[in-house]
Amino acid sequence: MIIDGKQAAANLRSELAREVSALKKSKGITPSLTVVLVGEDAASEVYVRNKVKQTREVGMISNEIRLPATTTQTDLLSQLSLLNNDNSVHGILVQLPLPEHIDESAIIEAITPPKDVDGFHAMNSGRLLNGEKGALVPCTPQGCIMLAKQHLGGDLSGKHAVVIGRSNIVGKPVALLLLQENCTVTIAHSRTKNLAQVCQQADILVAAVGRAEFVQADWVKKGATVIDVGINRIEDALTGKPKLVGDVAYDSVSEVCGAITPVPGGVGPMTIACLLKNTLEAALQQAQNTQ
Ligand code: GUN
Repeated sequence: MIIDGKQAAANLRSELAREVSALKKSKGITPSLTVVLVGEDAASEVYVRNKVKQTREVGMISNEIRLPATTTQTDLLSQLSLLNNDNSVHGILVQLPLPEHIDESAIIEAITPPKDVDGFHAMNSGRLLNGEKGALVPCTPQGCIMLAKQHLGGDLSGKHAVVIGRSNIVGKPVALLLLQENCTVTIAHSRTKNLAQVCQQADILVAAVGRAEFVQADWVKKGATVIDVGINRIEDALTGKPKLVGDVAYDSVSEVCGAITPVPGGVGPMTIACLLKNTLEAALQQAQNTQ
């Protein structure tokens, strides 16, 4: 079975559009998201364009700040300070990767936690770790959990989840969310021994390694739920044209697993929908805190 992330994301956006409209009517607040893009990374341009479009489609305010690749860290920090102090801005997202002369973690830590809709600030990741309410949770991991729950009927408890990848953006937070859902969680990575055998234990397998078609069919337990976070650009072997593939060898794994998210059309669309969800959540929390 194919888990349709495009449809799930469209459903989530419709629900958000209704909530945004209700918030406007009841409190006169329109959630607003500012995306900061430094330099001219081609993939980032596409992501930012999609973010802006979808933010507006659900009735939120979208602002875009474009800065040249030569922007200094100090200038970027000043820009963030203005946004942190601007009450009309509810969410701030600095598109990654940043140019090499800028220290990414210094930028992430400079975004005020209530506006950190990426959920990358230590305050938000710490709250997620501690299982506290009110954390802004990273978007791609949220999307992974929603898709797994949608397929498995909402209850993940007792399932063995194997996450391949340990990044701060996906691997670690998705593992924590699976733990919150009462899964038994294994985090595998590039130094894991017997990776195939570890993956074979998984009822839920989350692949977030960034290696094209890395996960093979004989690593996957029959009936497992496979969540593919990878977006890799490769050349099609037959046509020679560029194409997008995930971290999972889709065709062969589809034969053994119970369900799988496709690439494109799986986790990807959920990421932006969850960003909009975080922006609404941030606006609601800020409204509550200023009452
Ligand atoms: N670049 C690729 N994915 C992301 C993301 O989720 N957030 C940000 N800020 N930058 C990204």
